[in-house]
Amino acid sequence: MQALDRYVYPHRLLHWLVAGAVLLSLASGLTLGFLGFDGTVDLIGKTLTNVLYASHKTLGVLILLLMTLRVITRLTFVVPDYMPPLNRFERVASATVHHLLYLALIVMPLIGWTATASGGFPVEFFFWQLPGFIDKDEQLSEQLFMLHGWLGWTILGLVVLHVTGAMFHWKIKRDNVMKRMSLFD
Ligand code: HEM
Ligand code: HEM
Repeated sequence: MQALDRYVYPHRLLHWLVAGAVLLSLASGLTLGFLGFDGTVDLIGKTLTNVLYASHKTLGVLILLLMTLRVITRLTFVVPDYMPPLNRFERVASATVHHLLYLALIVMPLIGWTATASGGFPVEFFFWQLPGFIDKDEQLSEQLFMLHGWLGWTILGLVVLHVTGAMFHWKIKRDNVMKRMSLFD
């Protein structure tokens, strides 16, 4: 029997969908965080500002859904072997960053959702408005948005470490790590 040399296709597809959505949500979130509502309106007008908020929230909720599927595909299907095996440092470093990314990408949308709902703002997902599940509490909302901001920088840092590691394996070590996640041959 031939050994599995890459993750199953659904898991690889989910990786790249989440990667795209995370980059877009960081870019839109940081723009909104830096400029605030009024600053964004001054720059791009009210209509586009509302579209940017709605798109950011939609992307965030989408990440929560895709990450839930991803946990299922990760736990259900066989994980390929490393060829050649990773050394101890690589194993510990990659497992730590991967686990932290999984955790952060599930907690982050939940914080964004709760911060938005407790601030009395709509939780938009495409053209729907999702339930808030929490009463209005401006102080809580402010604290959760602060946490949302810090976690945003943490995710950005983890992504930089992760992509640096991936590039090292792909271009310098030239082992099979990139192939494990690639959608192409
Ligand atoms: C925001 C962007 C990204 C996030 C959140 C992310 C997240 C993750 C996570 C959590 C894993 C572990 C998969 C698992 O074991 O189930 C993983 C694996 C992987 N990622 Fe990413 N990733 C991102 C972007 C990228 C980019 C841009 C590249 C390539 C340059 C890349 C290359 C890889 C590779 C090669 C693996 C397989 C590692 C292995 O298990 O051997 N990722 N990614
Ligand atoms: C993984 C998913 C998400 C990521 C990576 C993300 C990232 C970010 C970042 C980096 C900021 C800027 C924070 C600051 O500088 O203060 C931000 C702001 C914001 N996020 Fe998210 N977010 C996600 C999910 C969500 C969700 C699900 C919602 C709501 C349903 C949401 C609502 C908001 C709002 C309303 C702001 C603007 C806050 C302000 O004006 O200070 N986010 N997000």
